[in-house]
Amino acid sequence: MANPPTQLVNSVRSVIIGTGSYLPRDIVTNADLAQKVDTSDEWITQRTGIKERRIANKDESTSFMASRAAEKALDAAGLKGSDIDGIIVGTSTPDKSFPSVAVHVQSEIGSQNGPNFDVQAVCSGFVYALSVADSLIKSGAARRFLVIGAEKFSSLLNWEDRTTCVLFGDGAGAVILEAQDQPDQNRSGQDLIDQRGIHSFHLHANGRLKDILCTDGGVASTQNAGHIHMNGREVFRNAVDLMSEVVEETLAHNHIGPEDIDWLIPHQANIRIIESTRKKLGLPPEKDVVTVDRHGNTSAASIPLALDEAVRDGRVRKNELILFEALGAGLTWGSLLVRF
Ligand code: UT7
Repeated sequence: MANPPTQLVNSVRSVIIGTGSYLPRDIVTNADLAQKVDTSDEWITQRTGIKERRIANKDESTSFMASRAAEKALDAAGLKGSDIDGIIVGTSTPDKSFPSVAVHVQSEIGSQNGPNFDVQAVCSGFVYALSVADSLIKSGAARRFLVIGAEKFSSLLNWEDRTTCVLFGDGAGAVILEAQDQPDQNRSGQDLIDQRGIHSFHLHANGRLKDILCTDGGVASTQNAGHIHMNGREVFRNAVDLMSEVVEETLAHNHIGPEDIDWLIPHQANIRIIESTRKKLGLPPEKDVVTVDRHGNTSAASIPLALDEAVRDGRVRKNELILFEALGAGLTWGSLLVRF
């Protein structure tokens, strides 16, 4: 019997309709750090690719940076705060234990609606937050989400510990995610990869590795946030393996090959991890968006910061296929495929 003609099934897809970001004004170079701890520009550059990072001052709180990034994303989308149905912020460095950064942003941008909440998945925070927003949009709970990655990791650093203080920076990035009705699947249930919006996300965690990257404090244990501790080699080894795995998982799920990817926007922790994933995919360097040299590791903010930079300088354009991938403390990791 002949196959029935392919019919398109309409469904909701979450489309990114605006991006924005905020970077603190103060730039701290490797040479600046070499005056404070026993390190050098050569070591930091060779091991991480970082040349400088932005460090927030006392007026630049996480919610301040998140709100400025949100305003720029709203501007880019031609919207006002009152047009937003919900706000999700990926952050591990909220201004206060509660309420969330999300409700601080809500009051700053003049939105009346919710759900508004923070997602704590450390460096995977933006990929997790975007995935939650996508799921809520597809469930019909909201049509327009502001999704932000915002971090003030400088407040978790021991500035005398050279193994961590050279790695991190501060900042925020935001996107507006909007429900759009589109042909989503053909009759056999296959995804139509040429449609705009989020096609899939893949989230993972392994709590057995919780101690290789963590803080030594917290509100319910030491009553303060504590400082970052990291077994860098172990995190590095896991990151190289797990990033490749999750990228393969995403390609297989969507029945596409590396050649279909227009942009790889990875979490910006270390240029060697970023390049390893890109090389395993066989992609040329110009398909990788890299900001780690100027931003350092901004945790949940790194992907939306990189996305906004590449959108504003004209590299990332409408209808291009972007693969986000991230790994952070937990360990948590994940990826998200979106046609911009
Ligand atoms: O965002 C969440 C995910 N995080 C990551 O993905 C980070 C993953 N890890 C890394 O990026 C790397 O492991 C680091 C950049 C943190 C470290 O690079 P490494 O090549 O793994 O170096 P290492 O930790 O093995 O240390 C090598 C040497 C050590 O000296 P010895 O024991 O060989 O004498 C360190 O004490 O480098 C020393 N070292 C430094 N030297 C100068 C550590 N930090 C510094 C420093 N300056 N800042």
